Amino acid sequence: METPCVRVERERGEETRRELAEANLLRDDREIVVEDGWLYVPVADPEAVPGSFEVVDHDVPRRETQTMPADLLGEEPSYERLGDIVIVDEDDPDRAREIADAIVASDLPVRTVLNRASKVKGDRRVRDWDVLATDEAEPDELRARTETVHREYGCEFALDVAQVYFSPRLATERHRVAEQVADDEHAFDMFAGVGPFVVPFAQRGADVVGVDINEVAIEYLRENARRNGVEDRVTAIHGDVRDVAAGDSDATDADYGNWADRVVMNLPHSADEFLDAAIRLASDDCVLHYYDIQHEDDPFGPGEAAIRAAAEPEYDVAVETRHVVRSYAPHELNVCLDVRLTR
Ligand SMILES: C[S@@+](CC[C@H](N)C(=O)[O-])C[C@H]1O[C@@H](n2cnc3c(N)ncnc32)[C@H](O)[C@@H]1O
Repeated sequence: METPCVRVERERGEETRRELAEANLLRDDREIVVEDGWLYVPVADPEAVPGSFEVVDHDVPRRETQTMPADLLGEEPSYERLGDIVIVDEDDPDRAREIADAIVASDLPVRTVLNRASKVKGDRRVRDWDVLATDEAEPDELRARTETVHREYGCEFALDVAQVYFSPRLATERHRVAEQVADDEHAFDMFAGVGPFVVPFAQRGADVVGVDINEVAIEYLRENARRNGVEDRVTAIHGDVRDVAAGDSDATDADYGNWADRVVMNLPHSADEFLDAAIRLASDDCVLHYYDIQHEDDPFGPGEAAIRAAAEPEYDVAVETRHVVRSYAPHELNVCLDVRLTR
């Protein structure tokens, strides 16, 4: 069966398999194949595979040991896994029910099946969900059904999808940024959520501050710092990051002006409104990771112009990377600008 696979030399097989497994990119319903010294590792989301890997279509057999939803439906449904929650995205309620039934009857380790019931909305970027299936033994309370522990690149994240933003599709992107973090640097995540940037940064030895306006996300961020043994290097602040950056927040007495060697701004659509705050946080030599969603004709231009308008002439602005994270909608791209600001 033709399937998107990462192709690597046999000697790099184990290291590659482990890296793809940590990013939740392995397809567990297909076999890994060895041919002519090459290993073909089937992947679930070829677009999310880091650019350092080669992705090719290759004929790989189905794994016989497990019954997957596709075996029961006769076609491949699209779904995402978040811990033991499976997320589908179906407008047709009958079709959603059919997929949920197949997921529950399959050998996937699943406790709850959810369907997206709205787009992400409001400040907190949280969406509504329909619960399609859940463990009968669960108490009849939405939080229990929508809470899970998700693993990403060796870190554990507890979260409740009904109360916080989290996208497993960004795992590879977060890893790309985390790999740039150096021991002992000061990193500031302006829109931290449950900590998927903060925790791996702290694991690399950085002192990290994460701010979020969503109090539930900050509670999970504190829990996740503890879970991953990095609570000593993490400060989690509940509040509006504009107040924190201005030294005007009830949640902290600390002054983070001129503090940050790295600033993460993952609030696409409105990050430009927070650039003044980011500049206040930046130290004399600071890398800014600026996320944006723009038309494919000029995905980086508006972000770069906004950063220059906010930072110059106080800082020299050098764009180090223009990176496409994923396609967001037809003709729209989710991108990241890695920008060095030097005072
Ligand atoms: C797109 S999510 C990103 C979360 C996290 N960085 C991640 O990758 O999963 C944006 C986050 O920004 C938070 N947020 C929105 N406006 C904010 C503000 N003014 N100050 C602090 N946090 C804010 C939301 O609550 C949400 O958790």
